[in-house]
Amino acid sequence: MRQEKKIDCPAVIELIGVEKVFGRQRVLDGVDLRVCEGTTTVIVGASGEGKSVILKHMLGLMRPDAGRVEIFGRDITQASARELKAVRRDFGVLFQNVALFDSMTIFDNVALPLRERTKERPQQIAVRVEELLQMMDLPGAATKYPAQLSGGMQKRVGLARALALDPKIVFFDEPTTGLDVLKSNEIYRLFHHTQAKLGYTAVIVSHDVPKIFKLSDHVALLAEGVIQGQLTPEEFQRSENPLIRDFVETTMGLIYSSEREEAALQ
Ligand SMILES: Nc1ncnc2c1ncn2[C@@H]1O[C@H](COP(=O)(O)OP(=O)(O)O)[C@@H](O)[C@H]1O
Ligand SMILES: [Mg+2]
Repeated sequence: MRQEKKIDCPAVIELIGVEKVFGRQRVLDGVDLRVCEGTTTVIVGASGEGKSVILKHMLGLMRPDAGRVEIFGRDITQASARELKAVRRDFGVLFQNVALFDSMTIFDNVALPLRERTKERPQQIAVRVEELLQMMDLPGAATKYPAQLSGGMQKRVGLARALALDPKIVFFDEPTTGLDVLKSNEIYRLFHHTQAKLGYTAVIVSHDVPKIFKLSDHVALLAEGVIQGQLTPEEFQRSENPLIRDFVETTMGLIYSSEREEAALQ
């Protein structure tokens, strides 16, 4: 079954009929997805369905076999490496494995994109890094090394770095993997807070459906190679699409157990 309705909004990202085949495996079979400006869109779906593959198409790291990927109205599927680089200038990325540099301090990790991609002077960079660490609730972390921080703090450093260049779109792929419920919620609160403050558009791939539901404007289920509906959380939970219903029924159990787990931890 295809999408139930078309979302009408100024789009910053639009996937139109995107297909991707690996060998004999058809992973994306005509994905249509529209990400509205300033909103949070969450892509959910079982493991191995192709959620990360969708993100890689948005980032221009993969090219589709058919279909278009438009970023700010521009088809990037035919873009040159140089053009892609310019498009990515507006992107912030936080992936599952945060990929901090172990041998660099937190300060240097966050400063890295500013040093590499801007002409700002050391003094300005220092002010910006301090501001980002404050925003992520990481006072005093600047001189530490990643190994000295907890998993949750490392993710927050990753978020600070992802936001360093004031991106227009931020991509998160399973950003809370490995964190317990409280720490995951803390990360999502920070997303929400920084998004409200900075106004970026967020695309999140997550299996933390319960919490992420509450923070999202649209939820899109990827199943059988297509988006089964890009809906508000309320619409999603009421959808009559059998695949969405299945998904909701499975994850509703998770909502209760997650709330119990959270209550037990508090
Ligand atoms: N570069 C690649 N080459 C071959 N197969 C790939 C590649 N990237 C992803 N796949 C396959 O595509 C499917 C979807 O992967 P992925 O997007 O990582 O799933 P998930 O929804 O868990 O993020 C998987 O079966 C994976 O093995
Ligand atoms: Mg993935």
